[in-house]
Amino acid sequence: MSHKRVAILLSGGGSNMVALADSMTGDHPARPCLVMSNDPHAGGLTKAANMGLATAAVDHRPFKGDRAAFEVELMKPLLDAQPDIVCLAGFMRVLTAGFVTHWAGRMLNIHPSLLPKYRGLHTHARALEAGDTEHGCTVHEVTAELDDGPILGQARVPINAGDTPETLAARVLVQEHILYPAVLRRYASGDRTPVLLS
Ligand code: GRF
Repeated sequence: MSHKRVAILLSGGGSNMVALADSMTGDHPARPCLVMSNDPHAGGLTKAANMGLATAAVDHRPFKGDRAAFEVELMKPLLDAQPDIVCLAGFMRVLTAGFVTHWAGRMLNIHPSLLPKYRGLHTHARALEAGDTEHGCTVHEVTAELDDGPILGQARVPINAGDTPETLAARVLVQEHILYPAVLRRYASGDRTPVLLS
């Protein structure tokens, strides 16, 4: 059985990357082929290397905001790895429409809110400020519009009295580590039916 090849892009600690990579074993239809970051010192790269995964880094800083030039370099190790699916897992660079179009229909992202609510940053603080009673995370296909593509999965958590952005983020992150692997397993087998966890 030939497995689907999955590249994972991250910017930070990589806990979602670990959950995804750990899930791709046994009868899972996919296997990780590359873990890449825009930060050569990202904790997630070290974790990936310790897991024996191929890694690469393209530092975005020398490009001084020139996204297109940064993406030309980002594309090189990615094309070399020949992924069937690209998972954005805490990758914090906004990608251009050109890059997204190249990977259209095979690039996923996890976002820490119940989209379409709270696109962008600081999602936990915004949900608390709004007085919401529930919050969560979403896995979606990536389109040129930020945090906007077709939803492939959502997990809901309650917001409790006394919650802070930190306590809420921690509760959501636990669900992220369940939701993203569940969506990837289904997506890699060609099934786009949303995974709904509550
Ligand atoms: C996660 O909360 C993810 O939803 C958001 O960035 C965070 C990354 O965490 N986009 P990690 O690097 O996977 O631990």
